[in-house]
Amino acid sequence: MEQVRIGVIGTGRMGQNHCRVFSNMRHAKFVGVCDVNGDLGKEIARKYEVSYFRDVDSLIENVDAVSICTPTPQHYELVMRCLDRNVHVMVEKPFTETLEQARALKEAAESKRKLVVQVGHIEKFNPTFIELRKVLEGMTILAMNFNRLSPFQGSNVDVDVVLDLMIHDIGLVVDLFEAEPISMDAYGLSVFSDTIDHGLAVLRYDPGLLVSLTASRVTEQKVRGINVTSKEAYIEADLLNKNISVHRRTLGDYVNHKNSGVKYRQESLIERIVVPAMEPLFLELQDFVNCVIENKTPQVTAADGYNALRFVLLLRDKILETMKVQ
Ligand SMILES: NC(=O)c1ccc[n+]([C@@H]2O[C@H](COP(=O)([O-])OP(=O)(O)OC[C@H]3O[C@@H](n4cnc5c(N)ncnc54)[C@H](O)[C@@H]3O)[C@@H](O)[C@H]2O)c1
Repeated sequence: MEQVRIGVIGTGRMGQNHCRVFSNMRHAKFVGVCDVNGDLGKEIARKYEVSYFRDVDSLIENVDAVSICTPTPQHYELVMRCLDRNVHVMVEKPFTETLEQARALKEAAESKRKLVVQVGHIEKFNPTFIELRKVLEGMTILAMNFNRLSPFQGSNVDVDVVLDLMIHDIGLVVDLFEAEPISMDAYGLSVFSDTIDHGLAVLRYDPGLLVSLTASRVTEQKVRGINVTSKEAYIEADLLNKNISVHRRTLGDYVNHKNSGVKYRQESLIERIVVPAMEPLFLELQDFVNCVIENKTPQVTAADGYNALRFVLLLRDKILETMKVQ
């Protein structure tokens, strides 16, 4: 296959971004969209000069692959329908609403090995995270601290902050550490909604690695940060502003300058890492299209989507448990 015929199901906030990216991608032929909101679907179809399909089945008949960008409760049924019709699927995160649904889709994906099923854990494609991984190679990590903070916007309150935001960092944790944590604690607060608006989780890995995650939709400042304490350095990664600083330990000896004879003592050494200016969504969808063309396994599989959801639901249960006792 030289070119993948693509359709987008759900043309809301996220679906419109998928449409923009697919409309401008080599090896992708953006064919059409489907949305239960006909006015919106037609408007987006007009904007990108593609077809609007009233029902999902007629879109599926005309494409090789789809992006599913509907609200999460619709993911299970739509992914299953695409797999039944041998259509490759990219589905937004969270994979599904329940763990049972995620397990069923994981099994369905495993039985259809020729089909690509990719889950939208986009941060894995964030160039800052990609560079951070390279910086961490060979280092002994002692602690990692993930911060994902946002102001309250009043939207998306049917989903708590753990499923909405913390899941992004859990996706990265699952990617970084294959082992299961030996213990987990999690706490949360309801501030503006009836669900968890601020969540904190602490994971302990053998032999002595600590990971903490804070996700919030209560803060005025938008923050997307990962700080790492390793034996070799302290590393600050800002996923929003795309920069990484590596604070290295120095020897603390006096340095003799050859020509001037000046003697000084170095306090610290800060390296600033170059982060390529690439859009994570472009890299994610490009990976999907390449996997379809080259018959490859995607970087975020159905099993990864299942694992991230399992992890997040465990943490959410722990938080709800502690909130009950307050
Ligand atoms: N990766 C990310 O960073 C990120 C960010 C935001 C949202 N998301 C995820 O993307 C998904 C969509 O979120 P959103 O904010 O774009 O939602 P949204 O409400 O803005 O858009 C969803 C669209 O899907 C349509 N729709 C609903 N059911 C449908 C069906 N059965 N068939 C066709 N269309 C249908 C709706 O009419 C709506 O236009 C969610 O799973 C969400 O968690 C991911």
